Amino acid sequence: MTVRVGIIGAGGVAVTHLVNLLRIPEADVVAISDVAPGAAEACIRRVNAQQDLNARPADEPRRLRARVYADYRSMLAEAGLHALYVCTPPAARGAVELAAVAEGVALCVEKPVTLDLGVAREVAAAIRQQNLVSSVCYQVRYARAVDDARRALDGRPIAMALGYMLGGVPAAPWWRARSTGGGQLVEQATHTVDLMTSFLGDVERVYAAGALRVHRDVPGFDIHDTGVVTLHFASGAIGSIATTAVLGSGSTAGFPTGLHLFAADLRVEVWGASLKVVTGDRTDERRYGESPMQALDADFIDAVGRRDPARVRTPYADAVRTLAITLAGEESARTGRVVEVARA
Ligand SMILES: NC(=O)c1ccc[n+]([C@@H]2O[C@H](COP(=O)([O-])OP(=O)(O)OC[C@H]3O[C@@H](n4cnc5c(N)ncnc54)[C@H](O)[C@@H]3O)[C@@H](O)[C@H]2O)c1
Repeated sequence: MTVRVGIIGAGGVAVTHLVNLLRIPEADVVAISDVAPGAAEACIRRVNAQQDLNARPADEPRRLRARVYADYRSMLAEAGLHALYVCTPPAARGAVELAAVAEGVALCVEKPVTLDLGVAREVAAAIRQQNLVSSVCYQVRYARAVDDARRALDGRPIAMALGYMLGGVPAAPWWRARSTGGGQLVEQATHTVDLMTSFLGDVERVYAAGALRVHRDVPGFDIHDTGVVTLHFASGAIGSIATTAVLGSGSTAGFPTGLHLFAADLRVEVWGASLKVVTGDRTDERRYGESPMQALDADFIDAVGRRDPARVRTPYADAVRTLAITLAGEESARTGRVVEVARA
């Protein structure tokens, strides 16, 4: 089956998904919508330029020829979509997803699903009611490094998890304000929290500290640029995540980002492209070349084609739980109190 795909939000991450989708023969991206005039057209140009760059000399690169819609409601009414990618900033979520679900359209939603737990619960309930395929872009869950980490742990109980999201300030202006980005834990280290819960299960309560130390004079910057959060898991295990955005501009690439897991006589360090397993005096280190996001996109399209929500590793319902944990962490960092995690 050819899966007819639409995209809402034609910014940076949309380009990544679009290039991935062009590599999946069963996916046909037919529509793109963005509120900013010219954004969707610019996105299409960027994707096709990247296709030209990536093409081997003998190949005719697959082109993106999607129709552009200024209004997502017209897109949902006219484009005959099977699936919608939601790539808008996190505060612009809710109405689009509910409208898509009402039309029976499967959803692939960028993390964090929203900044509002009530909205997330409403969307999750609608998806459940319609038994639709959903995926949230916590792509690290699709990394082969993570599969190998699980094999190395071999079911051993994890005593402690340490996570690191250490980098700079992403370019998008909405990232710097709590009202539009939610803060670094909610927006970015949400990947770390999500992966931790995939290894250790539910979190019951958190306590956190945060500070704004370096970016105080940046206009509109009202989130912490440095923080730590401690997590108590229902299993009795404990975790801690350090975040900072003071290390440079743009991205976390090259900075130590990842998850460290500690079990009896075993230490595992894992993230999207690397794995280190330390047992006794033996250290096994591996690097991986595959793109976890490509794997996530392929799995989503496959699940939509088969109408099988259970095939997806990153369903919307799990992401609601991750949002509840990160919002509790932000609240704790602001109030200085221990916060019980709300039920997803
Ligand atoms: N999974 C990942 O690793 C990853 C990486 C980057 C970004 N993201 C997530 O993707 C989302 C978008 O990030 P980005 O970097 O692409 O942002 P961006 O600012 O580059 O792009 C967002 C686009 O959405 C459009 N937009 C805003 N409000 C809209 C609305 N109501 N309707 C339609 N379009 C609207 C903007 O005009 C812009 O073109 C965020 O949630 C971010 O956290 C995830």
